[in-house]
Parts: sequence; C-alpha cells; structure tokens
Amino acid sequence: MAIIKKIAILTSGGDAPGMNAAIRAVVRRAIKEDIKVVGVMRGYEGLVNGDFIPMFSKSVSSIIQLGGTILKTARSKSFTTAEGRKVAYNNLIENEIDALVVIGGDGTFKGARIFTEEFNFPTVGIPGTIDNDLYGTDMTIGYDTALNTVIEAVDKIRDTAASHERVFLIEVMGRDAGFIALRAGIACGAEDILIPETPSDLQALHQKLTKYIETKKTSSIILVAEGDEEGGAFEIKEKMEKFGGEYELKVTVLGHIQRGGSPSAYDRYLASRLGVAAVEALIDDQRSIMIGMINREVVHVPFNKTTKHHKTIDQRMLDIVDILNA
Ligand code: F6P
Repeated sequence: MAIIKKIAILTSGGDAPGMNAAIRAVVRRAIKEDIKVVGVMRGYEGLVNGDFIPMFSKSVSSIIQLGGTILKTARSKSFTTAEGRKVAYNNLIENEIDALVVIGGDGTFKGARIFTEEFNFPTVGIPGTIDNDLYGTDMTIGYDTALNTVIEAVDKIRDTAASHERVFLIEVMGRDAGFIALRAGIACGAEDILIPETPSDLQALHQKLTKYIETKKTSSIILVAEGDEEGGAFEIKEKMEKFGGEYELKVTVLGHIQRGGSPSAYDRYLASRLGVAAVEALIDDQRSIMIGMINREVVHVPFNKTTKHHKTIDQRMLDIVDILNA
C-alpha cells in the first residue's frame, strides 16, 4: 500500500461527455480515504504553469450530468518538451502531490507514459474520448453519448433524405478511427460506412447507389469518418459526382455537437467505476497504467501497452452493416 496524501487530477485532449462524472468519482473516492485532491486546469498546460485548485466534495456537486470538463482541457505544446515536463514535475513536488490522475485519449496517455518513464511519478489514466480508439478498454468515456448524438441527428436527416429522395454523406468525428461511424452506422441503419481502417471503394459505392435507384430505393445514408482515406464528406461528394450518378448527393458535417451534451447513463456509470478504480489503483501502489473496462470488469493496462497497440475494428460489425443494408 502506498502512502498517498495528495492527488492531482487533470483532463486533456478533446473533451468527452462523462469526464465530469470521472472527476467527481476520483475526488469523492479520494476524500473517503482522507486523500486531498487538487484539480489541474487545462490539462498538461496547467501542470506546467502550476495552475492548481483545491477540490472538495462540494467542488464536484451536481456535475455528474454535465458535458465538457469543469477542469477545462487543452493540447499542451510545452509538455511535449523535456524542459516542460521537468517544470511540471517540479510543480507537483513543490505542491506535495504524490500521484496524478489523467483523463483523456491516446495523446494524453502518450504524454503520461513519457512522464512516468522520466520521473517514475505514480500516474493513472482514465480513458476519455468520444473516438473509442484506445486499446485495453471496450468503451471509452464519451463514446456512448456521442453515438446517441449521432443517431439522433441521422434520424432527423433521414426524414428529409427520404422526402427529397436524396443520398446524404454524413461526416462524423474520427480523425484516425472509424468506431463512431461503425457503431452509429449499425444503429441508424446506414446504407454504407466509410472508415479509415478499411479501403474505401467509391466506384463500388456508386454502383451500389445506382442499383438502389433501379430497385426504387431512392434515399440513403452514408456515414463517413472524417479521417477516411478518400477524404471528408465534401471531398467524397466531389469525387462521387464525377461518376455522374442519377442520385442527388448532399453533405452534412456533424462536427463538434458530437462532443457535447449531457452524458448518457452508460457514460456516467463507466466514468464512476473507472474514477473509483483509479484512486484504488494508486492506493494499491500501481503506477503508469490506464484503468479500462473489458467484459464489464475493471482492468489495469500499462500505458506502454495502450499507447503501442491499436484497437482494431471487428470484422463482424462490418459484415452486419453489409448484411442489413439491402
Ligand atoms: O476528441 C477526438 C476528436 O473528436 C477527433 O475525432 C477529432 O478529429 C478531434 O477530436 C478534433 O478535435 P479539435 O477540434 O478539438 O482539434
């Protein structure tokens, strides 16, 4: 058992619904053990600038239902330098902080891995990103809420797509990953999905849409992950129009609405469980790990593993998109 008297917590990278629920869980679990908590403002940037605020049980009242992050977030340039990380370390020591909890995605954990390698400072990560692209956890905090936001929007677009007999290319987030497009695609009955993990054949898509017209299916929804190899939805529209198809193409980019909003029940639950487990792991002398959930069980995944492995797309999910889009 490690003697931990004070923990710092930060959120970093893109915000995700449920981050506040995770902050709340960390603060309340720590306070139960008489461990003090300080919030670090604006992620690693705040660590370098010494931007710390004391946190109490009351500091996290009524935030479980809020999207975004009360600690703000940023992508820090200074923390990517050795000098910046040294300043961050000194700030932690000067403030008598014994351990760090970071909530974020891939970039956040890469930063945490380097930091722990350099200073052996006890650090535990909680996966928070709408992209769900982290190895070592079935779901990241924010993914479920983002999926619900996407399908709500797509359902609305489908009404107008059907009325006007149009094909919509709907761009969803996922700079490097297609998990949002894939699962939302299944959940909203998309006719096709285009994602970075698999080759995108626009000619084949054109043929499919042409065939649909022949069979009197006059509207379709295609979900495009923003990082697709053929480009974003606008670029794909331009390329598709060169085929001279008889269908009318429209584009909607869902953008940052996918990152906001009140977290779903699942995200609140996941965040609460991972937040509690993060503090318990630190008390148990764990360091340099991400807390994930696999098959409904909390797991500890070394930063090394989660940052070096890629979460892969499940081929069976791609098959489902194909089978169901008749
Ligand atoms: O949060 C992850 C993510 O949503 C990516 O899918 C997206 O490419 C990126 O963040 C955009 O973030 P920002 O606009 O904050 O740079």
